[in-house]
Amino acid sequence: MKLSQLFLLSSILVSIPSFAHAEEATWKDTSLSPEARAKALVKAMTQDEKIQLVHSLYAIPNGPKNLPMPKGALGSAAYVPSIERLGIPAQQITDAGLGVANPGNVRPGDAATSLPSGQILSGTFDPKLAYEAGKMTGAEAFHRGFNVLLGGGVVLARDPRIGRNFEYLGEDPVLAGNIVAEQVKGVQSEHVVSTVKHLAFNNIETNRKKIDMKIGEKEGRESDLLAFEIAIKKGNPGSIMCAYNKVNGDYSCENSYLLQLPKKDWGYQGYVMTDWGGGHSTVKAANAGLDQESAADQFDNKIYFGKDLQEAVAKGEVQQSRLDDMAYRVLYALIQVGAYDHPATKSDQPEDVAAHEAISQKIAENGIVLLQNKQNILPLSTTVKNIAIIGGHANEGVLSGGGSSQVTARGGNIKLKTGMQTWPGPVSYFPSSPMKAIEALAPEAKVKFAAGDNIHEAVKLASQSDVVIVFATKWSAESFDNANLSLPGNQDHLIESVAKAGKPVIVVLETGNPVEMPWLNNVDAVVEAWFPGTSGGPAIANILFGKVNPSGRLSITWPKSLAQVPYPKITNAGQRWNEDDPVKEDKPDLSGIATFNLDVDKANVGYRWYEAKKITPLYPFGYGLSYTTFKYTKITLNNNLSEKNPTITAEVTVENTGKRDGEDAVQVYGTMPDGSPSRLVGFNKVALKAGESKTVSIPLALQAIANYESKAHRWEMPAGEYTITAKSNALSTEGVKTTVHLNQLNLAD
Ligand code: NOJ
Repeated sequence: MKLSQLFLLSSILVSIPSFAHAEEATWKDTSLSPEARAKALVKAMTQDEKIQLVHSLYAIPNGPKNLPMPKGALGSAAYVPSIERLGIPAQQITDAGLGVANPGNVRPGDAATSLPSGQILSGTFDPKLAYEAGKMTGAEAFHRGFNVLLGGGVVLARDPRIGRNFEYLGEDPVLAGNIVAEQVKGVQSEHVVSTVKHLAFNNIETNRKKIDMKIGEKEGRESDLLAFEIAIKKGNPGSIMCAYNKVNGDYSCENSYLLQLPKKDWGYQGYVMTDWGGGHSTVKAANAGLDQESAADQFDNKIYFGKDLQEAVAKGEVQQSRLDDMAYRVLYALIQVGAYDHPATKSDQPEDVAAHEAISQKIAENGIVLLQNKQNILPLSTTVKNIAIIGGHANEGVLSGGGSSQVTARGGNIKLKTGMQTWPGPVSYFPSSPMKAIEALAPEAKVKFAAGDNIHEAVKLASQSDVVIVFATKWSAESFDNANLSLPGNQDHLIESVAKAGKPVIVVLETGNPVEMPWLNNVDAVVEAWFPGTSGGPAIANILFGKVNPSGRLSITWPKSLAQVPYPKITNAGQRWNEDDPVKEDKPDLSGIATFNLDVDKANVGYRWYEAKKITPLYPFGYGLSYTTFKYTKITLNNNLSEKNPTITAEVTVENTGKRDGEDAVQVYGTMPDGSPSRLVGFNKVALKAGESKTVSIPLALQAIANYESKAHRWEMPAGEYTITAKSNALSTEGVKTTVHLNQLNLAD
């Protein structure tokens, strides 16, 4: 080697540290974009480090394969170790959408705030509350040292038996998508990655790990995928969780159509993780677009995104650029939400528990639905003398939903000896007693309780009282669907019998779904409190006594019976088994439900199905009563129909025509020129004093009144006349309407 060559080599060698230093300056430089910083980090990573980043480990002992908890894990759904030399924090990954879970008490005594169920959050029709909900949960996650939250469920509720409807946000893509987008933004404002899930068509739980959901592209894009599109474009979640089920033949987590859609069509930069046990391959999944395998060590048949992935890259079966992209996406998410620059560590400082519980309560108060109120029996007077409270364990607490989203409440969940004791149970009540809250609001009343199992005793108590409040419950949980819409046990009979005592009867439902109410005509009032969260007791009492004027609306259409729903028979619905525990438990044979064709409702999910088929449900989407009345008096449209960014905003004038202050969920529906069933195109919540009138500006979601054209691969609004109506529920024939004539308009994807 010549001296000059030697000199050149040594100068290159000398320059390596300063080159590395310059790169480090790039990824640490907060003035640079998350993209630039994540790219610089990927460049600096070894192959082993990249592989480490793209699969997580289960972080609860006694998991399916009985492995110990990984060192450094806090104890939760999953964990990815840190890469200290690059400042990449460990990923501490926790469930879920309603609050920070503590499965199996893995973090002894760690309790948290649970939000009310998803139907309540979406039933508020209030994006601001959704943001607050997310921010509160994000803060509780961060406080405990978590930086990835598995919350943001946005599967559409296509059927009223589905076990996880309580985790989702109802049947409408515009409502669900916008509510979850705000929730995601709230979570991520606390430097915690939020996870929109489960992509896609996880519409039934029965046989969810094997079932093949069939749907056409157009129908899919106009229904569930529209909810995801809105959620992802507006909320920009750090991660997406792909679903257990197959879609059109391929498992969701190796389905290139589903995995590429957000990345190619919606500009998504974050990562896609599997559901727990949702990984099925290395090469196919990696090339389809999966970025991270979750709890890979215990839930999948083997770790697909470990050594196997490394070998696949070495063999060229998966391109190096694909592995780099996976790592990039995880890092982008961590940087984008601030989890890289503000690493979460378990805090010893006290949390603002009162503020967090107040948020949960406010959401419950805004989302619980008053279904019936004959002769304005509600609100109750605080001077009522004798109150009978019957059933539902209302003396102790409120029911919550089961499965991975189950939160442990402060004070400990009440686990009764009845019902399901193992996962997805035990059936748990939060210790927020409606009875105690009622006693506090009506201090002079004699409030007595009957459990309801002895009907004779309950009727006796009812007949000695001035008013009877019956609490009826129906649990639902992840991993199975309900077999029917009936209240379990003797509850229908109990309500019928108590109603015969001749006293005013109010039924408060705590259910995960709509239920049949054969006694409806015999009771005075019905309040659907869903699963009302860790402050559910006071929220229910405040509504019953009018401290809060109910303003919640249904985010799922309430059928009269299963005969009205698109899929009256779901084979094996009601079967349940611990399918997350493949080693220990036997499973029933569910081969009878291997595929599920979404070819009945297609894109006409929920109220659109009822409108298309001219079926009158018991209560439609958007329905809910108040202690006051509202009237829509005017609607006008402001159009900006530029090809690039067409927008239409509705100005809706709404008046409180009653005697109480209250809040209205203003709903705007659109109908296309072909007269196909209308769809919610915008909404907002507005507070109005008695007699007050306000004009609310509501931007319209134009995709909801457009066709997805698969061939052209775009959304098209056909030429013609569109009708835009503000009304109090999806199927109401009242309200105010206007029309707009459009030339054909293509929407940017
Ligand atoms: C399975 C559930 O489907 C998913 O929603 C949850 O986040 C994971 N388990 C982790 O617990």
